Amino acid sequence: MLRIGLIGAGRIGHVHARSVTANPGATLSVVADVIPEVAAALADRYGARSSGDIDSIFTADDVDAVIICSPTPLHVPHILAAARAGKPALSEKPVAMETTAVDQLRTDLAGLDPIVMLGFNRRFDPSFHAIHTAVEAGEVGTVEQVTIISRDPAAPPKEYIAVSGGIFKDMTIHDFDTARYFLGDIATVSAVGQNLDPGLADSGDFDGAIITLTNARGASATITNSRHCASGYDQRLEVFGTQGSLLAENLRPTTVRRSTAEYTEAQDPYYDFFLERYEAAYAAELNEFISAVTQGRHPTPGIEDGAAALRIAEAAGEAARTGRTIAL
Ligand SMILES: NC(=O)c1ccc[n+]([C@@H]2O[C@H](COP(=O)([O-])OP(=O)(O)OC[C@H]3O[C@@H](n4cnc5c(N)ncnc54)[C@H](O)[C@@H]3O)[C@@H](O)[C@H]2O)c1
Repeated sequence: MLRIGLIGAGRIGHVHARSVTANPGATLSVVADVIPEVAAALADRYGARSSGDIDSIFTADDVDAVIICSPTPLHVPHILAAARAGKPALSEKPVAMETTAVDQLRTDLAGLDPIVMLGFNRRFDPSFHAIHTAVEAGEVGTVEQVTIISRDPAAPPKEYIAVSGGIFKDMTIHDFDTARYFLGDIATVSAVGQNLDPGLADSGDFDGAIITLTNARGASATITNSRHCASGYDQRLEVFGTQGSLLAENLRPTTVRRSTAEYTEAQDPYYDFFLERYEAAYAAELNEFISAVTQGRHPTPGIEDGAAALRIAEAAGEAARTGRTIAL
């Protein structure tokens, strides 16, 4: 039974607390947050203890491993603190706000060889994972084009956007990892940023984006993002190869199709957001973390996957600002 210390009791902290509690191989020991009442509210829900002292988590006797759900600028210091304490860590994405911070992290981790997993949960989505398995088995031949549609139902609060690193590092980072999952190392990045939402006009960030990535072989990934999808959380993936294609459509709460005098074949709207849509993915991600910790091996995705996705995000930002294609 892996005893978990959860750091950061916000949106994704709630998702992981639920996932840990539902997993027979783990137990939620403690929830820590700089706001003690926020930590206590989440801990109480699952019968864990709570703490407002983050540092105490790294030395706690009842914590075997940590899940880092703190704001992005704190991922590097929290990964480092866990590594120094000898506690495996599952850290939320992105690994850091800047590539330079990852460079420093590598230096600081030298000689520690910690178990660190990055929370790119979409690799563990049953449908996306099934597509990956089929691609690896050669079902569609050589991959030529990957198409990723990833639209959020609503933008996060502006205060969150301001400290998130922007759309490419905060939101598209998942899609950059998905692109790497199918194409490997990315060679070029081009991007168009959109400012179409008047409500976010003063946020200093894009509210939509189209990004094209290519690998050294010339295979491409096209990513379409929006922060305001009226029909819900729109998450689709297609992989096109020389022998065919594989398509994962949106999930819905039920498969019921309703037909009436007003409409035919109407279905439930898409899942509302990440908690529901990727519940199975978070559970499978946690299984992989638990199994890696139990077996003492390094899980995938790890810090270097986080670093590679972050480099693409930085290049996408430059590409959108300058209109140039960036070679990595
Ligand atoms: N994988 C996913 O699907 C996914 C989804 C959402 C967010 N995230 C990532 O998770 C991280 C948190 O995002 P969120 O949406 O939960 O944010 P949030 O603002 O809802 O929650 C962050 C929490 O961290 C706490 N906090 C602040 N400073 C802290 C500190 N020094 N130590 C510990 N806790 C501290 C805050 O009080 C807050 O409760 C971000 O890096 C984000 O990119 C990942």
